Amino acid sequence: MTNAPNKKLYIKTYGCQMNAYDTRRMEDILRPMGYSSVDTPDTADMVILNTCHIREKATDKVFSDLGRIREHKIEMEKNGQQMVVAVAGCVAQAEGDVILSRAKYVDMVFGPQTYHELPEMLAKITGAYGSARVINTDFPVEQKFDFLPEENAVSGSTAFLSIQEGCDKFCTFCVVPYTRGSEYSRDVASIVAEAKRMVANGARDITLLGQNVNAYHGTGADGKTWGLGRLIRELAEIQDLKRIRYSTSHPCDVQDDLIEAHRDVPQLMPHLHLPVQSGSNKILKAMNRKHTIEDYLATLDKFRTAQPDIELSSDFIIGFPGETDEDFEETYNLVKNVGFTAAYSFKYSPRPGTPAANMTNLVREDVKDVRLQRLQALLSEQALAFNRSFIGKPVEVLFDTKQNKAGQLHGRSRYNTAVYATGPARLCGQIVNVMIEDAGQTALHGSVQITE
Ligand code: SAH
Ligand code: SF4
Ligand code: F3S
Repeated sequence: MTNAPNKKLYIKTYGCQMNAYDTRRMEDILRPMGYSSVDTPDTADMVILNTCHIREKATDKVFSDLGRIREHKIEMEKNGQQMVVAVAGCVAQAEGDVILSRAKYVDMVFGPQTYHELPEMLAKITGAYGSARVINTDFPVEQKFDFLPEENAVSGSTAFLSIQEGCDKFCTFCVVPYTRGSEYSRDVASIVAEAKRMVANGARDITLLGQNVNAYHGTGADGKTWGLGRLIRELAEIQDLKRIRYSTSHPCDVQDDLIEAHRDVPQLMPHLHLPVQSGSNKILKAMNRKHTIEDYLATLDKFRTAQPDIELSSDFIIGFPGETDEDFEETYNLVKNVGFTAAYSFKYSPRPGTPAANMTNLVREDVKDVRLQRLQALLSEQALAFNRSFIGKPVEVLFDTKQNKAGQLHGRSRYNTAVYATGPARLCGQIVNVMIEDAGQTALHGSVQITE
């Protein structure tokens, strides 16, 4: 469609990388209809908030941002222009009706499983602008992945690819099984085809995404069910795909074929993000995590045997109902003993509709604050020590496709740590050795060692 009108699309993405992936795909779907992305909502023809419901703060942010979008919409209407306002993602799924009744200026609400229907939804709205409103929070039987466009816009040398979606685990604190539906794995063929398109468009480092990515069980070329390890081996055959990563894994879904892939596949990066949430068996049980700390440590040992260089990161919830000082100490000691070099840690936030929201043995906010600060201080210390261990050593860095504003090269190490380096612009998009001269908590700094 070369003669499609030029329209401005503003999408704000909240939450996890799966939402970031969905945003890219929404852009791909809307591009042939004449929409191109802009950085500010003020004069956009269409605004989509791709929302996250995981914690109360995330949800509140959506409602406060909506208030600002409303002002822009009013301004545009004064000038005789239209702005379609849509709420997508996990808040839309969980609270679609509330949004439509509370925010009259919202034209569309659609859940994470329906965005492939965007052109039809948009036609309904723009055909009768101002009167028709759309709500679409079904979990359609036809999967959204079967309806996506053949195009994949990739910006830079790294890309994200959703291979699995949804969750059947029902941890007592979590909204994901309700907002994303039950577990679904894409076919191997469609994933390989998408990865090849991404590589053709310049991607060299692909992160495979899923709410429980290692629960992946898709149909392979031989008609059999393949796990994540087998899929990674297949993707490693793609020429020019230099690095493969995956996120987020669940401790109960670790299969031997994944551990063996860490031993055998050089493109699979030595990093494992394996959320544990708590170091206390009592709390793990109350969370319905279905494993113990002993099981978790045994799994880490297997990864370390297969790939001794493996770097570990995790997620923690602090102040889950019933968490005592002793339980927290167990979490603290786990972080220390395992030596996690990074982690997402958050205070527990009760979510409506989840079993934990009915628990009464709540931890006081000020107690949660103190525990969270202590844990984060330890994690920062460990992250800094890990990064400083590279000073004076060469590190393999995949550089972004563009220099940054300061004329510096910017890229990622094998562990996905940001690296800033001085070096010639022709190295953009390549993997090069960088001699590390300095290190902070989140980034390494150095200069290019080998230029040819
Ligand atoms: N499937 C992954 C995690 C997905 S949600 C797993 O099982 O580990 C991402 C992270 O958000 C979780 O690991 C958890 O640490 C955090 N989270 C989820 N619900 C939360 C809640 N109610 N309060 C605080 N943090 C929460
Ligand atoms: Fe949520 Fe648990 Fe599923 Fe992770 S495994 S998405 S924490 S319910
Ligand atoms: Fe948030 Fe939904 Fe992801 S709740 S973390 S955007 S799956």
